[in-house]
Amino acid sequence: MENLEQARQWLAGATSLAVLTGAGVSAESGIPTFRGADGLWKDFKPEELATPEAFARDPRLVWEWYNWRRELIRKAQPNPAHRALVKLEIKIAHFTLITQNVDGLHDLAGSGKILKLHGDIWRMRCTACGANWPDRRAPLPKLPPHCACGGLARPGVVWFGESLPEGMMKEAEHAAASAAVFLVIGTSAVVYPAAGLVPFAKHAGAKVIEINTEPSAVSGIVDCALHGPAGEILPQLL
Ligand code: OAD
Repeated sequence: MENLEQARQWLAGATSLAVLTGAGVSAESGIPTFRGADGLWKDFKPEELATPEAFARDPRLVWEWYNWRRELIRKAQPNPAHRALVKLEIKIAHFTLITQNVDGLHDLAGSGKILKLHGDIWRMRCTACGANWPDRRAPLPKLPPHCACGGLARPGVVWFGESLPEGMMKEAEHAAASAAVFLVIGTSAVVYPAAGLVPFAKHAGAKVIEINTEPSAVSGIVDCALHGPAGEILPQLL
């Protein structure tokens, strides 16, 4: 049976679905991915921009990069892949969307239940008092931004070497373990612990479907690989 038809059948019969998305789901909205030919990590070094040490060394430099990304993301709109996931959420009783993306496009599309493993670029956190708050201004009026208490603010994202938000990985694992179908979309699946959800779901008995323009680190273990842009393939699965 053709892969697309097989995936469609599994989804049509599923009462529980967990989805893991990565940067590729937002690529068709014009947001650069991290790896690959046009990826952000070609021109920028993660250890200089996306670690607590980098921020301690030069908060202004880190904020300039995040300010630039916020401006880029602010212009972007959800694409047909984000919108198809909203339709699946409405259709399938037990649905969990797990994302590594910080861009907020799943929210903007209308997804209701989202586990943002790597945080949210539109939130800030105070390094002094721990307050955290939303801020959608792009560009920011002053770099680096500060909290009302006077403390230095940092982006509300998870950096390399940091833990994921408290309890969120447990919730993601629970969703992966109880899903009949696990969809993995637009991720190179090389960053842990997020990538570990794919074998986790597979061992728990889910049918794993991958949508990606290229093979990823988990392509070898998925039950069904659909090659192509998520914005074209996902709507065909509904
Ligand atoms: P990557 O940039 O590593 O991978 C993006 C994936 O999307 C690749 O496998 C591409 O082949 C695929 N892709 C590109 N365009 C696509 C499209 N239109 N449709 C479907 N697939 C497409 O991004 P992530 O896997 O999300 O973490 O990266 C994971 C984490 O690494 C990020 O959350 C970020 C990054 O460093 C932190 O900053 C902590």
